[in-house]
Amino acid sequence: MKRFEGKVALVTGAASGIGRATAERLAAEGATLMLADINEAALQTFSASLAASTVDHVRFDATDPASCRAMVAATAERFGRLDVLCNIAGIAGAWRLEDMSREAWDRMLAINLTSIFDVTQAAMPYLVESKGNIVNISSASSLQGQPYNSCYCAVKAGVNGFTRAIAAEFSSKQVRANLIAPGGVKTAIYDNYSFPSDAEQMLVNRMLPLPGYELAEAQEIAAAVAYVASDEARFMTGSVVVLDGGQTTL
Ligand SMILES: NC(=O)c1ccc[n+]([C@@H]2O[C@H](COP(=O)([O-])OP(=O)(O)OC[C@H]3O[C@@H](n4cnc5c(N)ncnc54)[C@H](O)[C@@H]3O)[C@@H](O)[C@H]2O)c1
Repeated sequence: MKRFEGKVALVTGAASGIGRATAERLAAEGATLMLADINEAALQTFSASLAASTVDHVRFDATDPASCRAMVAATAERFGRLDVLCNIAGIAGAWRLEDMSREAWDRMLAINLTSIFDVTQAAMPYLVESKGNIVNISSASSLQGQPYNSCYCAVKAGVNGFTRAIAAEFSSKQVRANLIAPGGVKTAIYDNYSFPSDAEQMLVNRMLPLPGYELAEAQEIAAAVAYVASDEARFMTGSVVVLDGGQTTL
């Protein structure tokens, strides 16, 4: 499939995990790509490995509004348009409520939610022009009360609310905005994730997929991103696509 020929996509979090797999998938389908991440060394290596495609990269720090805007400006300057915006960069972390600092709360909010506002605001004029679309990576955590994960749950639910509001506000301009909500995916975030040492196991079990399902591969999430971002999903906006092995099934 070459669903992205002639299209320019900006992918954040592209140095690792789901962002990297998404970039690989979009490149394989013909997209011109701007890759963005705070980890410039990894971006550079990855970008070089995609040499068969038209690709460039830019360092950005999601905690810095000016950096978010500069990343979008760099994309427009380099490629002259923007068709697909994938907001994937993010962090995770588990704390008991009483152990979570205000600083850690603010940092997660800045990276996982506020940066999406900054990037979307800067990108919207280009997306309106191209009748493009946005895919934001949320989480199963946005749909479920998860122990030791109050900030992440709140922030990802915020991503859902923001994305749906944008889908409504820009519907008449034919800019779509959708959400992908993964459960556990084999990436660095998941590998580095740990619960408090005295966590209640019965509560932690709420965060597992149904029996018969294990963690997802980043490529499986990327396949969903690619579908949602493609013209095949023309009728889809304001939707949450859940890929969680049944974790949030009632
Ligand atoms: N892996 C999972 O189980 C899982 C589940 C649900 C949702 N998610 C979401 O998927 C997204 C991607 O995570 P992943 O699993 O691929 O993890 P990952 O750690 O492999 O990738 C995250 C990327 O974000 C980048 N990043 C972190 N802080 C940044 C900053 N300040 N500025 C710019 N870039 C920054 C990192 O450098 C990294 O390349 C995140 O939004 C995460 O919340 C992951």
